[in-house]
Amino acid sequence: MPVSLPPALESSLDLLCCPTCRTRRLHPGGGALRCPKGHTFDIARHGYAGLLTGPRATSGDDAPMVRARDRFLSTGTYAPVRDTGARLAADAVSERATVVDVGCGTGYYLAGVLDELPGARGLGLDTSVRALRSAARAHDRAAAVAWDVFRPLPLADGVADVVLDIFAPRNPAEFHRVLRPAGRLVVIRPTGRHLAELRGRLPAMVTVDPAKEQRLHRALDPFFEAAVTEQVEYPVTLTGPAALDLVAMTPSARHVSRADLDDDGFPPGEVTVSVLATAYRPRRPGAGASAR
Ligand SMILES: C[S@@+](CC[C@H](N)C(=O)[O-])C[C@H]1O[C@@H](n2cnc3c(N)ncnc32)[C@H](O)[C@@H]1O
Ligand SMILES: [Zn+2]
Repeated sequence: MPVSLPPALESSLDLLCCPTCRTRRLHPGGGALRCPKGHTFDIARHGYAGLLTGPRATSGDDAPMVRARDRFLSTGTYAPVRDTGARLAADAVSERATVVDVGCGTGYYLAGVLDELPGARGLGLDTSVRALRSAARAHDRAAAVAWDVFRPLPLADGVADVVLDIFAPRNPAEFHRVLRPAGRLVVIRPTGRHLAELRGRLPAMVTVDPAKEQRLHRALDPFFEAAVTEQVEYPVTLTGPAALDLVAMTPSARHVSRADLDDDGFPPGEVTVSVLATAYRPRRPGAGASAR
């Protein structure tokens, strides 16, 4: 039996273009999406559209990482981060906004923005099929599409009011292309103090590169200017399972051994959550992207 088209995906079809020939509009039929030239993309049984064909993406979370992320986020530990992202996104756009979440993971942050904007619709993009399964169920108004952020996005020009990029890889030129001129790019990333106590206990955990902030600025500056930045920093006391999930949901999981986790100092007790959240305004074409 062909897979039925999830309502949120149906109401996102006008945003999409065929990733193969770039023709606008994909039409549903027989459990797939088709472009007018006949390119066909499956709709997965789990409710996301599989637009990613061709070479495999080089990055993306595996199933154990996504399960750990799902469990950890459900503890509410990052709720203040989610609330800040949702407020920054919602402050700048109308209630009927279109919100694209790149590297959406389980869709936790996208759902937060959609709750804040009762008339909005959301579209999550990720390479991880396990993440997309969760993202496709994260919110009634959220659709999920398999895509690699490092390739041209399968979205028409200027269709998004908000692009969210939360602890995820970025493609500034494409973010600029798909955003409306009055839209906002909301980026959330860790500061050097983020989870420092946990990193102190587990030297194999990937550290936050001190030059990261500068690199972010250099990459975005041709296309975006910061409108507002907020720092979100607070202490949390981690339970053992939450601490394990926090490690398991990051790329560090591959470098941390069982012996590291069995140390007396684990779980580490109180740790600091510390992130920066910035809403960026697109520069006008000519004022930024092509002039710099
Ligand atoms: C650190 S997680 C953040 C997920 C989500 N934004 C959150 O904060 O819960 C990074 C996400 O980016 C996704 N990702 C990695 N490489 C990607 C790529 N090239 N294109 C799209 N998504 C990618 C991963 O699969 C993962 O879901
Ligand atoms: Zn096509």
